[in-house]
Amino acid sequence: MYRYFSFVLFLQINLAAQAQPSIIAHRGSSFTAPENTVAAAQLAWQQNADAVELDIYLSKDNRVVVIHDSNTKRTTGQEFNVAETSADVLRSLDAGDWKNELYKGEKIPFLEEMIATIPDGKKMVIEIKCGVEVLPALKLAVDLSGKKQQLIFIAFGWETILATKQLFPENACYWLSGWAPEVQEKMKESAIKGLDGLNLNNKIVDKKTVRRAKRLGLEMLSWTIDDAEEAKRLVKLGVTGITTNRPDLIRSSLQ
Ligand code: G3P
Ligand code: CA
Repeated sequence: MYRYFSFVLFLQINLAAQAQPSIIAHRGSSFTAPENTVAAAQLAWQQNADAVELDIYLSKDNRVVVIHDSNTKRTTGQEFNVAETSADVLRSLDAGDWKNELYKGEKIPFLEEMIATIPDGKKMVIEIKCGVEVLPALKLAVDLSGKKQQLIFIAFGWETILATKQLFPENACYWLSGWAPEVQEKMKESAIKGLDGLNLNNKIVDKKTVRRAKRLGLEMLSWTIDDAEEAKRLVKLGVTGITTNRPDLIRSSLQ
């Protein structure tokens, strides 16, 4: 009898352990710290996030810079189009003060600065916001980083994510979407083309979609979830990565 109960307990512990998703800090721990900065990444690691997500663009002088928008107005107060601006100008802007004066002086990071923060055993999810023009500079930055195996790539652009998978066949690559009809249309193709999975807006993640993805061998991640009950719903459906602005809150609510 004792053996039977021990076995049941062992199974329960293991099932509970399996159900834990990766907690991915969206633009770093961006509820508190300014998004897409070194400070936001460091706070996410302190809060024990499994991964940090960030967004990249290519500057005029071919540097890979970390920023969500194609221009700098929202996060620096000064308006420059990233693709038409050289890195030294972008780096002269303050990307922290808009969020909180405690973060005054944070710069728009180079991708390599963000990669350098990744602790052993953790991952970085790199979202390619621009197009394939970034790939040569991205390859260079990744190859020089010494942390290639800790990197994951995501993009909304279908051709962009396929080209990224070809360039980095050993790295996990996920296609992003927030539109259910295109997900149904492209899901099979995602598997055929060798993508590792889908990364969907939580509003379009349901049982049927997760089941179909699993049948095709595709992993399912989701964004952006700051609500504990919604995170639990997604995990129950089989989502294995929860992208959140509040990694501390979501981690504690799933434990
Ligand atoms: O992780 C995916 C998510 O970041 C996509 O949306 O607009 O926050 O880049 P966005
Ligand atoms: Ca993003």
